Amino acid sequence: MLIRIKKASDVAPSEITPESVYLNRRHFIAAAMAGVGTGALGGFENTAVAATPSSMPFQVSPGFTVPAVDTYEKLGPQDEVTIPFSVWSYNNFAEFGPEKTDPLANIGTFQPRPWAIAVDGLCAKPGTLDLDDFLKPQSFETRTYRLRCTETWSIVVPWVGIPLADAVKRFEPLGSAKFVRFETVMRPEEMPGQKTSALKWPYVEALRLDEALNPLAFLAVGMYGQVLPGQNGAPIRVVAPWKYGFKGAKSIVRMTFTEDQPVTSWNLRIPKEYGFMANVNPAVDHPRWSQATERRLGEFRRRPTLMFNGYGEEVAHMYAGMDLIKNF
Ligand code: MTE
Repeated sequence: MLIRIKKASDVAPSEITPESVYLNRRHFIAAAMAGVGTGALGGFENTAVAATPSSMPFQVSPGFTVPAVDTYEKLGPQDEVTIPFSVWSYNNFAEFGPEKTDPLANIGTFQPRPWAIAVDGLCAKPGTLDLDDFLKPQSFETRTYRLRCTETWSIVVPWVGIPLADAVKRFEPLGSAKFVRFETVMRPEEMPGQKTSALKWPYVEALRLDEALNPLAFLAVGMYGQVLPGQNGAPIRVVAPWKYGFKGAKSIVRMTFTEDQPVTSWNLRIPKEYGFMANVNPAVDHPRWSQATERRLGEFRRRPTLMFNGYGEEVAHMYAGMDLIKNF
């Protein structure tokens, strides 16, 4: 008989942020931030939600549809799951502007297709692949993960995608490769934020190679059983649930294997506030606020933030002997 032992990192279906809450998360944030001060990655504001849903959810590519998740009915009431993703309105996606409503407001001309991903650097099989070909050898999985933003809000999202390790291994990184660098698409004509100096563009994030190979690391092409909306990083984004949300680069077009630690966007911009490691750590405060607690969207009371966002069992071994205060 197979006995399933519940781990601390497991997420109960009841924990998943209902889609309706996610849609309205700015309202929860506005209330939550009253005690936290100004926002981290661009600030929080209290203006009304821009009710300008784009017409269609994005497709990964014609004839290649992210499958519906059969366990989906278990995720929440039916009326919540049928809300179209195109109305999602609260995001961090600096390419579309600094405010939480900017991604939805400015997503209009963004084309997540056709889409190519270049894989280069220290690997035996570099190449540029159409997204279909990049995804084709893999079968999709659903991973329900907590996402903890450095701004102290958190959500629980059922992602659809592929293990990052599978994508990485396919390109055969060399023994000298120590990091994987992810680069977001550069399209200033479609992404107005890229015409500003908010960050050095394109947005870059990176993981150590062992982190990228950790079974938890994921490349998402969908969420809530549907194709990823543009404002959430269509057509493909990185998800590393034990790290702060900014490590999860959206709309990636390049994966590069390097020996040296890559320069990453937020770390370059404000190194004292955004470390390269960015492991969720309640014991290491952000210089401007405590990281000890968080507000799970949809909940009234703050809850304690968990070390490694609750995924210590899966990831702590990668940091044995490392000073996590210094390497924040
Ligand atoms: N990726 C890019 N390219 N640009 C960004 O501004 N913001 C990050 C991350 N990925 C960001 C990005 C931050 S700070 C967070 S918290 C998450 O995306 C938010 O993801 P969501 O909007 O889908 O919740």
